[in-house]
Amino acid sequence: MDSNNLPDSLKKIIVSEEEIRGIISRIAQEITQDYSGKNLLICGILRGCFIFMADLVRHLELDVEISFIKASSYGSGKEPGELKIVEFETLDKYKDYYIIIVDDILDTGNTFYYLEQELKSKGFAGVDFCVFLDKPERRQLPVSAKYTGKRIGNEFVVGYGLDFNEKYRNLPFVAAVE
Ligand code: IMP
Ligand code: MG
Repeated sequence: MDSNNLPDSLKKIIVSEEEIRGIISRIAQEITQDYSGKNLLICGILRGCFIFMADLVRHLELDVEISFIKASSYGSGKEPGELKIVEFETLDKYKDYYIIIVDDILDTGNTFYYLEQELKSKGFAGVDFCVFLDKPERRQLPVSAKYTGKRIGNEFVVGYGLDFNEKYRNLPFVAAVE
């Protein structure tokens, strides 16, 4: 989908495709430097992570393993609901690994806060978070990401994996919903 076919409510581009390329290359370099020589598991939170993570891992100059969990805090619409986490395979076999949890956006912090509590008890060598976007003004709990693509204001955004009622994830850029 290109920006000419967008509804008027999505015309405000927050992160362009060119800016996305720059972000991917910067974060990939940081992770490559920080984890060289270490056992690393990149674990994405579905579904929002899927495009960001696919771009990111292809730019890492490291041997990494890939896994996914599913966490959803938004039922439908723009306000968080109850948090649900599903593990697709047991993470226990990665006990001695450094783990980087990848998500599309850090918002209230509920998802990461809850996950951090869960993962702390599993004996990983280290647990860090990596997000494409961060909305610091919205934070309700004390969590932060080690790797952040871009900080944005308090607006609801779609594209590059992010949805509004499951639509617009396939936009190649990020737009605000007005
Ligand atoms: P948190 O637990 O409030 O930090 O929620 C993070 C999750 O909320 C993200 O993984 C997204 O799925 C969703 N989310 C938060 N803000 C937005 C947004 O602006 N657009 C789309 N999804 C969002
Ligand atoms: Mg999500």
